[in-house]
Amino acid sequence: MSGLCSERVAVVTGAGRGLGRAHALALAAEGAKVVVNDLGVGLDGTGGTAGPAQLVVDEIRARGGQAVAHHGDIATAEGAASLIRTAVETWGRLDTLVNNAGFLRDRMLVNLDEDDWDAVVRVHLKGHFLPLKYAAAHWRAEAKAGRVPAARVVNTSSGAGLLGSVGQGNYSAAKAGIVGLTLVAAAETGRYGVLVNAIAPAARTRMTEATFAETMAAPADGFDAMAPENVSPLVVWLGSAASAGVTGRVFEAEGGRITVMEGWRPGPTADKGGRWSPAEAGETALRLLAEATKPEPVYGG
Ligand SMILES: NC(=O)c1ccc[n+]([C@@H]2O[C@H](COP(=O)([O-])OP(=O)(O)OC[C@H]3O[C@@H](n4cnc5c(N)ncnc54)[C@H](O)[C@@H]3O)[C@@H](O)[C@H]2O)c1
Repeated sequence: MSGLCSERVAVVTGAGRGLGRAHALALAAEGAKVVVNDLGVGLDGTGGTAGPAQLVVDEIRARGGQAVAHHGDIATAEGAASLIRTAVETWGRLDTLVNNAGFLRDRMLVNLDEDDWDAVVRVHLKGHFLPLKYAAAHWRAEAKAGRVPAARVVNTSSGAGLLGSVGQGNYSAAKAGIVGLTLVAAAETGRYGVLVNAIAPAARTRMTEATFAETMAAPADGFDAMAPENVSPLVVWLGSAASAGVTGRVFEAEGGRITVMEGWRPGPTADKGGRWSPAEAGETALRLLAEATKPEPVYGG
């Protein structure tokens, strides 16, 4: 297959359903050979079946593409390492890693159990770190051997991580952490040919179709803005060699809209040249806040 990703090998985590499935199909349609990872868990991360990953592999092959399934848990060292190994052992290379897998356990903070905190932070944050670590180690070895890659990583944050979301303290913290991880990974791995960016998508999947039924519904006719396939073109481009020079950035992608998110930067500031008293610090903070840009509202606030 020829296309934006021909000659490239891509790994997509959580690609058995929803956005990951759409990304895997879109990468394959542009010529990439794809490792389709999915543990096949329920909406809350429990259970597990090989079915979803294999179905997407079958779909890619039926369209003339190349794909293999990987059923490991990407938030374990063994699952993440074997995922990267699967790409290298099957096709002799790895070019693109799309970190996407995850699940939700929404509760207000006062009702959020330690288990629900741990499970959600683990799958998103550790589930991004570990595949990234093993992929980056592979790419560093390639660069040292004189084969500097045009490697790409696309991480998946969320509006919940960027702005906060009521009832999603665990998820928002993990998705904000993914932005921090993206910035560090971009700074550390650029020297050996790796570009790392993040998206904050919105689309109709099992994760959103019940909670936001009205916003997510498909129209009777016309552009189906919330179809997950609308997010994938940006992922394909960021995952291709064509995105040279773009790294450490966060994009919102929803329907027909792509937005560059502008991150934390210093706003109004004051320096006394010595230590403030608490009362002075408070007065100064209020004066600076009055000059500052108002924050975007928290989702559901
Ligand atoms: N749908 C949205 O509007 C939206 C908005 C913001 C962010 N996101 C993020 O996009 C990503 C994809 O979400 P989705 O909406 O497609 O959800 P989804 O539930 O349809 O797909 C997620 C997939 O990840 C898999 N998975 C879960 N834990 C795994 C693990 N440990 N190892 C391997 N696979 C695992 C699941 O089996 C599932 O198939 C998630 O990171 C989600 O937080 C989605």
